[in-house]
Amino acid sequence: MFKKILLVLLIVFILMQFFQPEKNISEITPTTDFIMMNNPPEEVAQILQTSCYDCHSNNTKYPWYNKIAPVSYFLASHVNDGKKHLNFSEWGKYNIRQKAHALDEIIEEVEHRKMPMTSYISMHEEAAMSNEEITTLTEYLDRALGMTELQQERAH
Ligand code: HEC
Repeated sequence: MFKKILLVLLIVFILMQFFQPEKNISEITPTTDFIMMNNPPEEVAQILQTSCYDCHSNNTKYPWYNKIAPVSYFLASHVNDGKKHLNFSEWGKYNIRQKAHALDEIIEEVEHRKMPMTSYISMHEEAAMSNEEITTLTEYLDRALGMTELQQERAH
């Protein structure tokens, strides 16, 4: 009995490998990309790319284990969910109000160490942010938020 269950599970597992989710990989760097548009200091760009872009842009750098279902489904759901909330590749499509709101949210998530997700850091040590990196990023984003709010006031 036990052997039969194992065999069924094994077959299901093998079949699963033929049905993989679509990958989040875009060949082009869009002109609406946050880094393209704002040209932040190299350090800031580096932090965003290393710690956030896998789930919040149109380009994910996949680890080898993404080849294995159901892990691939688990990762795809994180990426889809992350992109729904925030997509740095589509930054230029946000209006001023949305940008201000997003910047505010990003600063808060980073300051409270809610992002990048803990489960992600456990698999990507390089994505963990030091206190210095958090300060570098949030100081830059605070300035960007200040400028966006100014623009917002002028628009009224
Ligand atoms: C492993 C994937 C992953 C990584 C890496 C990641 N995020 Fe997220 N992020 C998510 C998911 C999934 C959500 C939506 C669910 C949630 O809020 O937990 C989210 C939500 C957010 C939100 C919206 C919160 C809200 O309440 O609407 C912000 C802002 C955010 N992330 C910023 C960042 C920043 C900045 C980084 C890099 C420092 C980052 N994330 C790294 C997956 C990720």
